[in-house]
Amino acid sequence: MSGRVTVSGAKNSALPCLAAAILTPETVTLHNVPYVRDCMTQRRLLEDLGAEVLVPDLRTHKITAANIEVFEAPYDLVKTMRASVLALGPLVARFGKAKVSLPGGCAIGTRPIDLHLEALKLLGAQVSLESGNIVARAPKGGRLVGADVSFPKVTVTGTENLLMAATLARGTTTLRNAAREPEVEDLADLLNRMGARVRGAGTDTITIEGVEALGAAEHTIIPDRIETGTFLVAAAITDGELEVKDCCPEHLGAVIERLREAGVQIEEVNPTTLHARRSPKGLRARDLTTEPYPDFPTDMQAQYMALMTQAEGSARIVETIFENRFMHASEMQRMGARVRVESNSTAVVEGPAVLSGARVQASDLRASASLVLAGLAARGVTIIERVYHIDRGYEKIEAKLRAVGADIERLRESVTAQLPPAETVTA
Ligand code: UD1
Repeated sequence: MSGRVTVSGAKNSALPCLAAAILTPETVTLHNVPYVRDCMTQRRLLEDLGAEVLVPDLRTHKITAANIEVFEAPYDLVKTMRASVLALGPLVARFGKAKVSLPGGCAIGTRPIDLHLEALKLLGAQVSLESGNIVARAPKGGRLVGADVSFPKVTVTGTENLLMAATLARGTTTLRNAAREPEVEDLADLLNRMGARVRGAGTDTITIEGVEALGAAEHTIIPDRIETGTFLVAAAITDGELEVKDCCPEHLGAVIERLREAGVQIEEVNPTTLHARRSPKGLRARDLTTEPYPDFPTDMQAQYMALMTQAEGSARIVETIFENRFMHASEMQRMGARVRVESNSTAVVEGPAVLSGARVQASDLRASASLVLAGLAARGVTIIERVYHIDRGYEKIEAKLRAVGADIERLRESVTAQLPPAETVTA
């Protein structure tokens, strides 16, 4: 593969930013929203609540939550996208009530939301479980109250939910052991543009001074660091060369460092463009442990495993964020990879292996990206089933990869292809 590939906006930033629009009756305009299924699901949730969402072009969303009539994220939505729990914080903060279906298990583990709920309780919310739904109510007077919250474990959407909830609370909230992910910082930027008083986002301590009301704002979503990382791996795994445009290298510190150690040459062409290729000395196996930001993200673990199948030596991969996040390993084995899953958290890859094309099944979003990467490196044809997983978070990945020389096509359309054309305006 060779050529230039452009990175879309970050799905994991767009999702909380879309939810943040619930906090104000005025219009929030978001640019660079990626054209992916999860963002469409979040838009549907906002519309179901009663918000008006205009989409003047595919990547701009204008949300006006002036007439919210429903205060619920129902099971149908939460089961397809866990991030719809991000409606919880904003709904309780602005309307004093919210009902969110409890997310069940998912392919990458149980993923509870107990930390979100315990923290909301500290802000005075009453939280109960009613027929599979979490019902949260603000204390008497209808407003949450600022509090000191110390998360026992780093949670990204938990931090975001509380960050949003605290913007309209009475008094000051401090979030300790907060997630430091760039997406949290991006959300805080948007909230501050809306009139919130948030300090410290991007560090592990965030302080939020509650305000009476939030207002209109316009904001551009940051580039997707996981899509960026996936393209860097694509260049190296195919022994090709890619220029990855419109990205933010600053957000990929640990990924770039680890890929370089593993024999990927990565250069910064300019502040928003990276160039990647395999080193002439070849790929080397290097161990990996996933950790919260700023360390190596769990969302790049599967893609890294695909790369390690082509590297010289043995790489131990330790997943510390989610249990049961090695579903891609058995599919890669079917392609000839030598991967040994030693426990829920540890896998060992022996390389290099000659991969051969096979019919494989995607189990989650990032697993499907790793199978695309493995398929690009394999001899013969790989057919990936359940490709709808990839459409949740990658914008037209097959078109982007085909444009730089990959032999890849979509055999059957999934939801993204049925999304409205660019000129459609949805009221
Ligand atoms: C977010 C990202 C996801 C990424 C993950 C970790 C979004 C929309 N999704 O997911 O892509 O893989 O961060 O970087 O931004 N936990 C609890 N109780 C809770 C909340 C979390 O035990 O109430 C546990 C989880 O099971 C997991 C760990 O904490 O083991 C981290 O999860 P969390 O950071 O909350 O992940 P998400 O926010 O769901």
